[in-house]
Amino acid sequence: MALSPQWLDELRSRITLSSVIMRTVKLQKAGHEWKACCPFHNEKSPSFTVSDQKGFYHCFGCQAHGDVISWMTDQRGMSFMDAVKELAAEAGMEVPAPDPQSAARAEQRAELNDVMEAAQSWFEDNLKSADGQQARAYLQQRGFRQEIMREFGFGFAPDSRNALHRALSRFDDDMLVESGMRISVDDGAQYDRFRARLMLPIHDARGRVIAFGGRILDSETKAAKYLNSPDTPLFDKGRNLYNLHRASPASRQSGRIVVVEGYMDVIALANAGIEDAVAPMGTALTERQLEMLWRMVETPVLCFDGDAAGQRAALRAIERALPMLRPSHSLRIVRLPAGLDPDDLLKQQGRKAMDALLDKAATLLDTLWTFERDAQRHDTPEDKAGLKARLLQHVDAIQDPDIRSLYKRELLERFSAFAFPPREKKPWVKREWKPGGFKPANPKLAPEAAARLRRSTSGGSRDLLAGAVIAGLARHPDQILRHAEQLERFAASDRNVGPVIDSLIEAAETLEPGATSPILVPDGISQAPDETRFSFLREGTDPKAACDDLAEAVSLLVERPALEAALAAATARFETDPEGAFTEQQRLLKRKLEFERRLGQMVSERAARAAQIDSDRQTALPDSEDDRETDR
Ligand code: UTP
Ligand code: MN
Repeated sequence: MALSPQWLDELRSRITLSSVIMRTVKLQKAGHEWKACCPFHNEKSPSFTVSDQKGFYHCFGCQAHGDVISWMTDQRGMSFMDAVKELAAEAGMEVPAPDPQSAARAEQRAELNDVMEAAQSWFEDNLKSADGQQARAYLQQRGFRQEIMREFGFGFAPDSRNALHRALSRFDDDMLVESGMRISVDDGAQYDRFRARLMLPIHDARGRVIAFGGRILDSETKAAKYLNSPDTPLFDKGRNLYNLHRASPASRQSGRIVVVEGYMDVIALANAGIEDAVAPMGTALTERQLEMLWRMVETPVLCFDGDAAGQRAALRAIERALPMLRPSHSLRIVRLPAGLDPDDLLKQQGRKAMDALLDKAATLLDTLWTFERDAQRHDTPEDKAGLKARLLQHVDAIQDPDIRSLYKRELLERFSAFAFPPREKKPWVKREWKPGGFKPANPKLAPEAAARLRRSTSGGSRDLLAGAVIAGLARHPDQILRHAEQLERFAASDRNVGPVIDSLIEAAETLEPGATSPILVPDGISQAPDETRFSFLREGTDPKAACDDLAEAVSLLVERPALEAALAAATARFETDPEGAFTEQQRLLKRKLEFERRLGQMVSERAARAAQIDSDRQTALPDSEDDRETDR
């Protein structure tokens, strides 16, 4: 007979929880219960309670929660079986012998653990050996501290089909396949799964190696960037989180847990001193993973890239979370600037910038609202009804009745304010009489902003893309608020064009819903000579296409400073770290080419060449024909 729930209940009932906890924590009587300062996190006033009647402990500060067995595993770090054995001895109960099947499973797991440990130490040795030279250089170029590389257990798998087999010959071939370290093909042949890769061990919550991720070293290789262990008896990628064993104690200190998208993002954060970060392993967050996060803190912070893929990932995570929401439990979401992952952001802007973003993570409700509001245009009653339907669909997914009705109320309020904005106008919007009707005059750009724009856009340094975006937004004012968030961030970083964009946003905020008459910008700006290159500045373009192109132009405009800053940083590093700077520059030049391809697609052939020259002049980089050569 195996351990049954009844047997475990009997065990729990025979042990007084407070007497076990009292061995290491000073408890004070509080009514029927006990109180103490929480042993799972740092605190000055006691929020940790122990109830012998209910048989569990609970901390109102850090949500640590469990029974006498989890006390032994979580607080004293014992394995489940050891905890059970020790408690059973104390209660005078005999631990039932495991049934043969589960005994066999346990034995197999133990042996698989040994395989993984052996593989890990072999990979680590390889990294130190002559074979590991390229991998060591790669790690150095990524800028990880020595200590971090050791803690994360980086290793190297040599370029060989049988080297692991030879090194781990003391294990059965079957075990090596079962552990995912070797691949067995139909004809019975077997070979090492990880070859010529930088190896990252993946640990379980208790810090045992259960799987690996292997990264290619040169970007020339056609193979997938990461190869991961398959699911094995030890490893289920939907039930583990990368770096959980390190992040979980760190999160008890910080009261926070951050979820990022990639292994390297976790490591880059730790490298910068942010230890409370985990990542899923290349898949969307599962329910199980959300539960794991919620067991650590009430509001995990999800940090996604600002690009479209990152935003889709964010929405997927939100949709997964909605049915699971319960009182006090939620998510917060950070959207990184477009084109940057946490690793890039830390390299370019440092820890302070990262902390600032994490501190002002948006609520789940805000993120959901913004996402749906910006998903499409909302000019017609049908569009608006569509938005309302999508919002209500999300609301319906929420299982908790209180949370559901609160979401419904808040989202519908926002919907009404957005779909039917108050008629009354802010005092600073000028309305003029026009012959022929009561039509309000087109809003005008604030005079200071207009003057600055004229200065910045006159002369040789004229910025084609910025000019086009401004003219485009002025021409399609109903599109401005859709991009307000991106534009505001961009405006804050650009002294020339920033004020103009700010005043466009201000003007747009006062427009009637669905208003399409252009905002007036000074002559010479809306009348840009390149006007016809961009579809959204041409007469007669299909409105939907114009809006899509304008959206693309906006995202190109806001991505560019990040890309340029990264390139400048890489170039500046050439003196100290030529090899690393070169690799980084190659990577960024590839992105720049992609950027220019997108820009080129938007404008005509002739105009594409002009835009190229324009943008080259701005970044002061070798011209792009050369880039293309070196990239191959
Ligand atoms: P990223 O491409 O963002 O990886 O993929 P990264 O961790 O930031 O790595 P660097 O900085 O490029 O070296 C995010 C995650 O998606 C999974 C991995 O878990 C990765 O960390 N992934 C990605 C794969 O499983 N396979 C792939 O080929 C690529
Ligand atoms: Mn990365």
